[in-house]
Amino acid sequence: MNNNTKLSEEDIIAATTEHVKQLLAGEGSGHDWWHIYRVWNNAKSIAAHEQANLFVVELAALLHDIGDHKFHNGDETVGPRMAYEWLQQLQVSKEVSNHIYDIIKEISFKGAGTSSEMSTVEGCIVQDADRLDAIGAIGIARTFAYGGHKNRELYNPEVAPVLHDNFEAYKTSTAPTINHFYEKLLLLKDRMHTASAKKLAEQRHAYMENFLSQFYAEWEGQR
Ligand code: ADP
Ligand code: NI
Repeated sequence: MNNNTKLSEEDIIAATTEHVKQLLAGEGSGHDWWHIYRVWNNAKSIAAHEQANLFVVELAALLHDIGDHKFHNGDETVGPRMAYEWLQQLQVSKEVSNHIYDIIKEISFKGAGTSSEMSTVEGCIVQDADRLDAIGAIGIARTFAYGGHKNRELYNPEVAPVLHDNFEAYKTSTAPTINHFYEKLLLLKDRMHTASAKKLAEQRHAYMENFLSQFYAEWEGQR
């Protein structure tokens, strides 16, 4: 890359796509490149109904999971810093880079009893897009993939779900995977910011409720 030539927005998105693909391809816990691809698509569809800076939305969607705290010993500052440094390499303005840094810093779910508000419309869009990929059929698949990756039980009727009131407790939980539905996934529909994401979330939520009913029926040996 010639350091004196500023890249176009299109080139920056293309370079970022390649960078993220290289970092996350083949990841086995549901945070792989295809998660990013889906969130990026969700974010573009939601943004089409909102007044937002699409360049910021796309870059934040692409970069939101590159240094996730779950894979860096709980350190929440790694992700936003990695994204910021990447954007600086591409000579993206400080204003846009800082905005994306803030979105990535704020985006994570931190426990049922905690707030994860977003400061800007671009942040709301990317958080909604990420959360849509945490629910519905894909959400179910990702959750069991993550549970397997962490060696968790599928379900244990003797371990009750906990509505965590702090991020530390949420992060360090080792509960069975079914508990995650009550601790996070079923709460997301009412925490969507945009109208279009709310609508999609309703369908995906209903699908998870059906899945859980069937799961418990089969657990007790019913057909
Ligand atoms: P966020 O994007 O809000 O930070 P995470 O990255 O923590 O959310 O989680 C993304 C997905 O990873 C969840 O929606 C879920 O599928 C899976 N996951 C995260 N934590 C757990 C857990 N404790 N048990 C099962 N799945 C989990
Ligand atoms: Ni994500």
